[in-house]
Amino acid sequence: MDVVIQPTADAACRLVARVIAGELRRKPHLVLGLATGATMEGVYRELVRLHREEQLDFSRCRTFNLDEYIGLTPADPNSYHRFMREHFFDPVNMDLRQTHLPDGCAADLDMECRRYEEAIRRAGGIDLQILGIGKAGHIGFNEPLSAFRSRTRVKALSPVTLKQNAPQFVDPSKMPRRAITMGVGTILDTSRCLLLATGAAKADIMARAVEGPITAMISATALQLHPRCSVVVDEDAAARLQGVAYYRWTFENEPEWEAFR
Ligand code: F6R
Repeated sequence: MDVVIQPTADAACRLVARVIAGELRRKPHLVLGLATGATMEGVYRELVRLHREEQLDFSRCRTFNLDEYIGLTPADPNSYHRFMREHFFDPVNMDLRQTHLPDGCAADLDMECRRYEEAIRRAGGIDLQILGIGKAGHIGFNEPLSAFRSRTRVKALSPVTLKQNAPQFVDPSKMPRRAITMGVGTILDTSRCLLLATGAAKADIMARAVEGPITAMISATALQLHPRCSVVVDEDAAARLQGVAYYRWTFENEPEWEAFR
């Protein structure tokens, strides 16, 4: 794992977008794993800018989102289908047939989870997975005690997640209590992971996720086992990390980051 600290949330989002752009230019058929949430909005804003101003081409890119609420149709304003179309898919030249999110309205949810895993497998696996982190350390909707070998499945949302996301709903009492999410094992199988966290509210959980003991209570600690995972944080989210001097040195000196300094 390596940790990249950027001065602001904007700079952190731009760096993540530039990594995605770099991978896409190298491999136009990139299989990109995507996340939703407030943190990601800045990343999508920058990708849209790169598409408009620098002709970044998404036409051959394939995408798989981490999760979707159960019971929300794609047209629902709170669905992740809708979030993705609004913030990313519609403003760029994405082929919608190549975008994938779990169907939270499927009649047979277990079959839908198996279908989703199979679709990822048929695409050749995920090349680059983008992740946010919840206040209690979930990645996707892998709530506390998610098995590290778990695959895409239905998961009950924890009280912390319900509290974190309910304000986004017009009527918070209508927030679904379950979601389909890629499993921790599905995420660990991706070729490369980028976890983005910004803001002081994420400082505690980032210290535990990156430098704390590996535990199923905090799904993000599983990323310590991933062979190629980078964590991108702003100064606020980095505030409680112990090893910042080392992280800054590696970012300034490792050839992998040369193009991003
Ligand atoms: C959403 C997802 C979640 C979010 C996390 C952070 O697709 O996978 O794990 O990334 O809850 O959300 P924000 O960015 O709203 O704090």
